[in-house]
Amino acid sequence: MADPDTAAPLPAATANTHVHELEIVEVIRETADTVSLVFEVPDLLTQRFRHRPGQFLTLRIPGERTGSVARCYSLSSSPHLDDDLIITVKRTEGGYASNWLCDNAVTGLRVTTLSPSGVFTPKSLDADLLMIAAGSGITPVISIIKSALVAGTGTIYLFYANRDASSVIFGTELADMMTEYPDRLLVDHWLESARGLPTAEALTERLWPYTGFDAFLCGPTAFMSTARAAMIAAGMTERHVHTEIYRSLTGDPFAEIVIDRDDAETPATATVELDGRRLELPWPRHTPLLDVLLAGGFDAPYSCREGACSACACTVRSGEVRMLRNDTLVDADLAVGLTLACQSVPLTDHVDIAFDQ
Ligand SMILES: Cc1cc2nc3c(=O)[nH]c(=O)nc-3n(C[C@H](O)[C@H](O)[C@H](O)COP(=O)(O)OP(=O)(O)OC[C@H]3O[C@@H](n4cnc5c(N)ncnc54)[C@H](O)[C@@H]3O)c2cc1C
Ligand code: FES
Repeated sequence: MADPDTAAPLPAATANTHVHELEIVEVIRETADTVSLVFEVPDLLTQRFRHRPGQFLTLRIPGERTGSVARCYSLSSSPHLDDDLIITVKRTEGGYASNWLCDNAVTGLRVTTLSPSGVFTPKSLDADLLMIAAGSGITPVISIIKSALVAGTGTIYLFYANRDASSVIFGTELADMMTEYPDRLLVDHWLESARGLPTAEALTERLWPYTGFDAFLCGPTAFMSTARAAMIAAGMTERHVHTEIYRSLTGDPFAEIVIDRDDAETPATATVELDGRRLELPWPRHTPLLDVLLAGGFDAPYSCREGACSACACTVRSGEVRMLRNDTLVDADLAVGLTLACQSVPLTDHVDIAFDQ
């Protein structure tokens, strides 16, 4: 990382240092339409791939027509249990990357990926956790559950909805964990084949005892809406509910960083707190903060670079910014000063920002 006092002027373009290649060392068939891919992390990259439970990788998937597409996949492995990184991919009907991975991923294949990122992770593994998942939404959730059981002290309730018994991912692993931790983990399976789709009423009834828990929600859009309605009906506030929204990226987060050198306006200045350091930087008026940081060699967190994932979320302490796009932060986030570094340009001459998420 560059030193703030001796940082060189921003270069026009910089190679993207977050991009790496990992080799698949095992492919595990989880269900008829889901595979887990196990990646080995070379010693040299251990630090780069250090991560928290619930975070995800962003992969570059080769495409004949498009060159490549970028897709995020949550890690189902636990940093507290597993040396390797594991992602779990479920086929999306008519989808490109998920089907490509399910059909083409083999042992020995090298895949280009960004280092892990994401904010769908508990602040403390000792917290009591309310986990709500459906289908492949179990992936980040199981990483958090495994981690909390081995490295934390709280109790966990998991509501897990699936189409039918054969589509339950990690069913055996969850049953084993319940046997090992009977006082700390309760898994409540809901099968659509037996009971129809889960309703907000049915969910609300189940959530009453757990409304004081830290809540994590991940699944298809319609399921998430139902679950959110149930949580609010049970008396929980949006602020206490962490959500991971699965969607496909449309841009290219692997592209090189380009700084607009034709910007004639005098740059603003930014004070940025990042990894315990305070940086003072010129901030060109039309360049997103993330690009300024990456071009300066600073290791700011990010994944999508298109305002969709919130991996780059940071807090504006003073001054004002404008987001070019925001598909992820909600009103409650904005109210506490959160912004997306990949989309923020300065509105005031000086802005003080902290990466404290
Ligand atoms: C943070 C994060 C974590 C994630 N974790 C996981 C995970 O752990 N496991 C997992 O399986 N997924 C995960 N996802 C979802 C994943 O990134 C992909 O979105 C998913 O695999 C679908 O990608 P795809 O390329 O197969 O589908 P896409 O090609 O993106 O297609 C998606 C849908 O759009 C339709 N579609 C495509 N093109 C068009 C078009 N031109 N017109 C109309 N419709 C179209 C397709 O038919 C399909 O139904 C995660 C996403 C995020 C953001
Ligand atoms: S990097 Fe995804 S929102 Fe900024």
